[in-house]
Amino acid sequence: MVGWLSELVEERGAEALDLHAQTVNPQFVKLLRTIGFDRRWARAEGAYLWDDDGNRYLDVLGGFGMFNVGRNNPRIREALVEALELNRPGSVQLGVDVLPALLAEELLSRAPASVGKVLFTSSGTEAVEAALKLGRAAAGRSRVLSAEHAFHGLTLGSLSANDGAEFTSRFGPLLPGFERVPWNDLEALERELAREDVALLIVEPVQGKGVNLPAEGYLAGAQELCRRYGTLFCVDEVQTGFGRTGRTFALEHWGLEPDLITVAKSLSGGYVPVGALLMSDAVYEGVFDSLPNAVSHGSTFAPNDLAMVAGLATLRELDEQGLVECSARLGDELLERTRPLAERSSVVREVRGLGLMWAIEFEEPEGGSRTWRMLERIQPALFAQLVVVPLLRDHRILSQVAGHGLNVLKALPPLVVTEDDLDWLVSALDETVAQAEKMPRALVRFALQAARAGAPRRRPVRA
Ligand SMILES: Cc1ncc(COP(=O)(O)O)c(C=O)c1O
Repeated sequence: MVGWLSELVEERGAEALDLHAQTVNPQFVKLLRTIGFDRRWARAEGAYLWDDDGNRYLDVLGGFGMFNVGRNNPRIREALVEALELNRPGSVQLGVDVLPALLAEELLSRAPASVGKVLFTSSGTEAVEAALKLGRAAAGRSRVLSAEHAFHGLTLGSLSANDGAEFTSRFGPLLPGFERVPWNDLEALERELAREDVALLIVEPVQGKGVNLPAEGYLAGAQELCRRYGTLFCVDEVQTGFGRTGRTFALEHWGLEPDLITVAKSLSGGYVPVGALLMSDAVYEGVFDSLPNAVSHGSTFAPNDLAMVAGLATLRELDEQGLVECSARLGDELLERTRPLAERSSVVREVRGLGLMWAIEFEEPEGGSRTWRMLERIQPALFAQLVVVPLLRDHRILSQVAGHGLNVLKALPPLVVTEDDLDWLVSALDETVAQAEKMPRALVRFALQAARAGAPRRRPVRA
C-alpha cells in the first residue's frame, strides 16, 4: 500500500540528519557524525537494520533493550492492527476496559507472589517515579536509597536516585532524602537501614551502566535487611525484564520477592511506550486507601489500548517462541566464546554477562601504555570507542559504550538472534579488539578528533 506516509518518507527520508539537526537536536546529530554513526537507516527486522544502500547490520544495541522480541515483530504488529480495526473504547478514563486488567493478570502470573497489583505508566522512568512516590506514602517514610552506579531514568525523581554527576550535575537541586549506598556492600546498607527511616531501597538486579552483576548473596541479603528494618524493597527490571537475562525477570535468579517491581522497555515489543509498577497489596492499600484516594496516581495515556495490546502480544510471543530460554542458552554460548578474549588480549579486563545482557571491559595493558594514558587524559574511557566505532564501520554491528566514563562495551541484542549472528559478533570482536589493542595511529587520531569535537563548550555547573 502506498499512501501519503510512504510518499512522504520517500520524498524527505534522505533529509533525516539535516532536518533533525535543524529542528530537534543538532548536538546529537554532530555526535553521530563525529563517531561515524550517521547512517541513513531504511528498515529493520528482527535483530537487523538496513541502511539505504541495502547493507544489513546486526543490532546488538537493541534500542537500549526495548526490542527483546525483535524489531517489527509481525505477530505484535498484527495484534496492533487488529486493535486499531476494532475501534475499541480505549481510555474511557471514568470507566474501565478489560485490556489493562488482562495485561496486569499476565504480568502478575509471571511475577513473584509478593506483588499483587499493577499500575501502568508510559515509560521506565515513570514506573520508577511511581515506585518512589507510592513507596514513600506506603512506608510513611521519606528517605530513598539506591546503589552506586545506579541508573533509574532521567526525570527528576529517578534522577535523584541515579549515581553519576554526568546525569545530575546541572539539574539540581534534586529531591531531598535520596542517598547512594555502595553496590554489593551489605554492611554499608545495614548501617543506613538501621536508622529505620528509609522508605525504599531501589536496585537494578544487574546494573545497566557497566553490566555490573550482584555478588553472591547481595540481593537476597538486601531484601532480608529491608524486611528487618521496615524498608520497601524495589527491584528495577526496566532493562532486565522480559527474558533479557535468561529468566522472565532477572530477580528469579535469586528467588527475590520484592514489594515493588518496575518494568517497561521490551514489554510492548518496541512498538508503543509502556511501563508498569508491580506492587504488593500492602503498598497498594497503603496509598489507595479510600474513595478520595482511588486516583492517587496516574497519567492520561496510561494505560492506553495499544500499549496493553502490545504488552499482551509480547508476553505471548516470549512464551510461544521460547525466547527466554533462547536468551539463557545463547547468552551462555556468547560468554563461553568471548571469555577467552580476557586471556588473549592485554586490554580486556573481563567479559561478563547474564543471558543476553553482555559486556566486555577494557583496561590499560599490564606494564602500562603511554597511548592508553593519553587517551584517558583526553577523555576517560575513550578506548572503548576504538572498538565500538570499527565494529559499526568495518563489521556492520551496532553496539554501545555502557555509560559515561566506562571502558565497557555492552550488548543487548534482540533475543531472536541466531547462532550465525553470534558467529558474526564473536569474529568481529576478535578482530576489532586485536586491532584496537595495537592502538594504531590512525585509529587513535580518529578517537582524539572525535573526543575533541564532542567536548562540551562550557563546563557543567555543579548542583
Ligand atoms: C534500569 C532502568 N530503569 C529505568 C530506566 C528508564 O527507562 P525509560 O528510558 O523508559 O524512561 C532505564 C532506562 O534505560 C533503565 O535501564
